[in-house]
Amino acid sequence: MQRILFIGQTGELGGAELVLLDIVSHYRDRCEVVLLADGPLRPRLLAAGVSVTVIAGGKNLLEVSRQGGRLQTLASAPQVLKTGWRIAAVGRRCDVLYPNSQKAAIVTMIAGIFARRPVVWHLHDILSAEHFGKLQRLAVVTLANHMTRRVIANSGASRDAFVAAGGRPDRVGVVANGLNPALFDCVTDGQIARLRSELGLTGKRLVGVFSRLSPWKGQHVLIEALPRLADVHALIVGDALFGEIEYKTMLMRRAVELGVSDRVHWLGFRDDVPVIMRTVDLVLHTSTSAEPFGRVIVEGMLARRPVLATNMGASIELLGEGHWGLVPPDDPMALAEAIERIFATPPSILAQRVAEDHRRAARMFSVDEMLAGIDRELATVC
Ligand code: UDP
Ligand code: GLC
Repeated sequence: MQRILFIGQTGELGGAELVLLDIVSHYRDRCEVVLLADGPLRPRLLAAGVSVTVIAGGKNLLEVSRQGGRLQTLASAPQVLKTGWRIAAVGRRCDVLYPNSQKAAIVTMIAGIFARRPVVWHLHDILSAEHFGKLQRLAVVTLANHMTRRVIANSGASRDAFVAAGGRPDRVGVVANGLNPALFDCVTDGQIARLRSELGLTGKRLVGVFSRLSPWKGQHVLIEALPRLADVHALIVGDALFGEIEYKTMLMRRAVELGVSDRVHWLGFRDDVPVIMRTVDLVLHTSTSAEPFGRVIVEGMLARRPVLATNMGASIELLGEGHWGLVPPDDPMALAEAIERIFATPPSILAQRVAEDHRRAARMFSVDEMLAGIDRELATVC
């Protein structure tokens, strides 16, 4: 049996980290985790019964951004080598190194050379110009072509972007994320009524976005759409996980400027997303760039709520080509119209549509299927 070392770039609870929690629970008897930054993920991993080492990845490495350009990328090189060396020291106890993000992949591929261990990279990102600088893409794809045994992409969209950036097509396989329907099925009418009453929103038309606050997650599109939507209240669930505080401040200011702040409810980061999703009438996914997967879309389908998502990236794979809920990105007017359309749809037709979506999500995106796919990929590395 292989022993696996998972390497995560952040200690925050983003989508890729929530996926990692399910994966490590599956391999708990034969894995350990290195995190390149501490945070709320660490106690969750420990609670799952897994040993965790925090190797602070260094400011330079974690702050390499799309805007950073060549200098920032090059300045991170010494830190990459040092972090790679430290990961290798832990990695020698294991048979496979499994980085869970693009930044973790770079240091892990270096660690793989030091420790002489194969690397399987779980790719949760779209390697496009919208998300990553040219040098970053070139560096990671060139390294991946030479130093990974397999790349596991979370969707066809992520796989295609990897190949378009120069990645070897024979090295990458798709394993879609899986989510647990039971978390949504066990929400009771009592919980929904209680939350509505706590929020003072009983009987109101209610929509929700459920992503970390970040410009490309597009919460601003919903705020801009609200003046066109009389009496619709919006729950903004999620927080600025990766330092995007300015965006959060801008969103709040904009809601005041547009005179809709009494209809926008800031819930911050929540652990009870299934209850909140079952409480809203409509789940919105407003990303302005292609989404690599988008767990919230599948969660909305499992919550048996109509989902509107932007018509790009993996959203199309999740909802299905030509789905009634696909809307153009960064277009508040189109979003407002689509929301009104849903509220105007006869309940019996809506119920039929959400039932179809629920069946699709449960069939195509199960946790068991995801874990079986990862098992298969890891088996090829034995
Ligand atoms: N989420 C959460 N609490 C919040 C907001 C979001 O637990 O307050 C969860 C959400 O339910 C989803 C994940 O965070 O499972 C976000 O994953 P997604 O793939 O949609 O986007 P990412 O942030 O990873 O790009
Ligand atoms: C990343 C992506 C998101 C995806 C998640 C899990 O955070 O941005 O689209 O759902 O990883 O794969």
